[in-house]
Amino acid sequence: MGLFKNYVSQTRKPEGRLGMMMLNGMNSGHAKMADWGLSHLKTIAPKTIVDLGCGGGRNIGEQLKKYPDAKGTAIDYSELSVEKATEYNKEFITAGRLVIKQGNVSALELPDSIYDLATAFETIYFWPGLEKCFAEVARILKDGGYFMIVNESDGKDAASLKFEKIIDGMKCYTVEQISDALSAAGFSRIKTDHHKSKPWITVLAKK
Ligand SMILES: C[S@@+](CC[C@H](N)C(=O)[O-])C[C@H]1O[C@@H](n2cnc3c(N)ncnc32)[C@H](O)[C@@H]1O
Repeated sequence: MGLFKNYVSQTRKPEGRLGMMMLNGMNSGHAKMADWGLSHLKTIAPKTIVDLGCGGGRNIGEQLKKYPDAKGTAIDYSELSVEKATEYNKEFITAGRLVIKQGNVSALELPDSIYDLATAFETIYFWPGLEKCFAEVARILKDGGYFMIVNESDGKDAASLKFEKIIDGMKCYTVEQISDALSAAGFSRIKTDHHKSKPWITVLAKK
């Protein structure tokens, strides 16, 4: 595998030295997009939050700052992401506000109906079957809980479609494809937004 392909493929499941370089870049590289996504959460006040595919852990940290009364869980199937997110969020962990666990979104080792909000930033491209994974998210959300997806790709932009060809197991989705999978997994009141000048999308759905 060429070095470029090897490096960009670390975004799917960071491992080793290149994976740590990728994780360091993700926390800063995704910050503006993630904050744009979080700005869509205006009326809710979640007490329990789970961030799925948490990567380097910046986005669960931002949510715990946004909601000072909330407790969080962050999940990633990469051991290295868990390590990086743990180091990044040590103050929240020490304060008893955050637990970070290794796990796969296709079969979450979490109880039913415990979260008010689930988030997924730049990660659903790699999930093994959207509908099945979204049903898992629905299972761990309380009735009336929200699931927010934020992607840098709207499923049509040339840059991401180029990466889709390079990174094994990556799939870019349109808001329509995401919305259909959410409906099939039992979500309702699905709202979508597209950034005015970038291919960023946010999809917010209610259980
Ligand atoms: C591109 S990174 C995004 C990380 C972070 N959410 C952010 O926005 O910076 C994708 C992350 O999703 C994780 N991931 C991909 N598929 C996953 C799965 N099936 N279960 C859990 N984590 C997954 C990867 O390990 C990686 O850390």
